[in-house]
Amino acid sequence: MNKPRKIDLFIRSAIKNHTSFRCPKCRLKMTVKEKSLSCENSHSFNISKKGYVNLLLSAHDSIYSKALFEARRKTTEAGVFDPIINAVADMINDDHLSEKISILDAGCGEGSISSKIYSHLNFKEVEFHGIDISKEGIALAGNCELPILWSVGDLSILPYQDHIFDLVLNILSPSNYSEFFRVMKKNALIIKIVPGTDYLREFRDILFAGSNKASYSNERVKSLFKNNVYEFNSQRICYTFSPDERQLQNLIDMTPLLIDRSPDAKEVEKLKKIQAISLDYEILTGRKA
Ligand SMILES: C[S@@+](CC[C@H](N)C(=O)[O-])C[C@H]1O[C@@H](n2cnc3c(N)ncnc32)[C@H](O)[C@@H]1O
Repeated sequence: MNKPRKIDLFIRSAIKNHTSFRCPKCRLKMTVKEKSLSCENSHSFNISKKGYVNLLLSAHDSIYSKALFEARRKTTEAGVFDPIINAVADMINDDHLSEKISILDAGCGEGSISSKIYSHLNFKEVEFHGIDISKEGIALAGNCELPILWSVGDLSILPYQDHIFDLVLNILSPSNYSEFFRVMKKNALIIKIVPGTDYLREFRDILFAGSNKASYSNERVKSLFKNNVYEFNSQRICYTFSPDERQLQNLIDMTPLLIDRSPDAKEVEKLKKIQAISLDYEILTGRKA
């Protein structure tokens, strides 16, 4: 049997979940009309052949390149993020007791983490949306074979109706709690992943010794999260990954740490000698009141 085209996967899921999208221009409900999402005011957004919709009203220059997203995808495929993916999927499966669940991954990047989480879920029906401001990221996300609804959009003006999500995921990305809570149902769960102090410590030690990037504290982000939710909880997950040469290069290429900092020859030599890399995350959870 032929694989469904990416655009058909999107259209089928969007028709099934027809009440979710909100027009970014006039805020009316949008539905699928042929190969676009349209509202009653005839604002219309084409569904790309690549399986996503662009709902940004003006172009955005992302600091993340296509190369960074590709390296991030290969890093996910190598299993580097599996411990957090498994932990998050278990949390979702254990928390939500109904057969149906609606999930938004806000700031999903190239979507490989969202896709792996999706694949671990045990529900009869899953409505899964991934949104990111980077068109490069979402264009890559659309390549997956899963019925995830990928959108280019801004998480501070989400193109979704009020109170539709059982869960918001926010993984290593910025947050906008008032917007997240607008689209979440009452008592819905939010899961935010933030880096811990030792996240990619070997890179920091080589590249940022003596500068303010040498260490990282998530205390400010954590306390903001805590102040916005009830039933706050946190779980720290630390482990190391021993990469081969190619995986190490992907780890170097996938990190926003190096966006504005090219290593010099000496640093490159030191980076190449890294045997194991530290991954350190804190998974923050809480509910919308
Ligand atoms: C470090 S990446 C994490 C991506 C993905 N969650 C992952 O872990 O692979 C941060 C992401 O946040 C996205 N982002 C930043 N500001 C955003 C905004 N206002 N709206 C939507 N996405 C945003 C970036 O484009 C980028 O893909």
